[in-house]
Amino acid sequence: MADTHHKPSGHERIETSNFLMIVLIVVAVAFGGLVEIVPLFFQRSTTQAAEGLKPYTALQLAGRDVYIREGCYNCHSQMIRPFRAETLRYGDYSKAGEFVYDHPFQWGSKRTGPDLHRVGGRYSDEWHRVHLMNPRDVVPESNMPSYPWLATAQVDPAGMAPKMTALRRLGVPYSDAEVAGAAEAVKGKTELDALIAYLQGMGVKAQPAAQAAATGAAQ
Ligand code: HEC
Repeated sequence: MADTHHKPSGHERIETSNFLMIVLIVVAVAFGGLVEIVPLFFQRSTTQAAEGLKPYTALQLAGRDVYIREGCYNCHSQMIRPFRAETLRYGDYSKAGEFVYDHPFQWGSKRTGPDLHRVGGRYSDEWHRVHLMNPRDVVPESNMPSYPWLATAQVDPAGMAPKMTALRRLGVPYSDAEVAGAAEAVKGKTELDALIAYLQGMGVKAQPAAQAAATGAAQ
């Protein structure tokens, strides 16, 4: 240090230059990121739909938009990790192939409330209705907000076909008939109906047994 004529070399040069340090960190992180992320685009297990997975129905899709708009993801994840404590509580762990029709996915990262990935079929439609109107009516200690306006807000039928067409461009296999029938499928439905349809379909599509249970609960 006392030697003012000392010219830094090698690693010391990097450590004593902010600019060089920043540039090299960016390069290192970018390289590390690419090595981890790029293979995922080509692995079948992450890009192929799980067996039995179907795109959201028009009503479920409308419900998913309500879920995003109301910020449910701020308190709920949709990603069950492959640990015993998680699978015992929530069910089978989440697989990448179950989310290929989600644009964008709703994995979330914060759990103020429980994970919702396999909530489909766990409760009746009526339970969800009461719970969303006022969670305290079914879970007294709940700190989840009430969403009473969903019961009167109508789903906009005209908005559905363009949404499904956009998703089709991203690779979701909607048929022409599904797009054409989308407006009719949500006509007269409230946002609460749509959100419940979305919740009841959650995580059950790739699981025939759970699917049957969910359909039973929906009646
Ligand atoms: C402020 C955080 C918060 C927000 C925002 C929130 N929740 Fe919750 N949610 C909770 C908590 C806490 C619980 C557990 C207590 C209960 O069941 O009410 C819960 C429970 C649930 C359950 C029951 C899950 C189970 O397995 O028992 C469902 C379904 C649910 N929330 C859906 C939603 C939906 C849909 C939205 C958005 C419209 C939403 N939540 C927004 C905190 C939140």
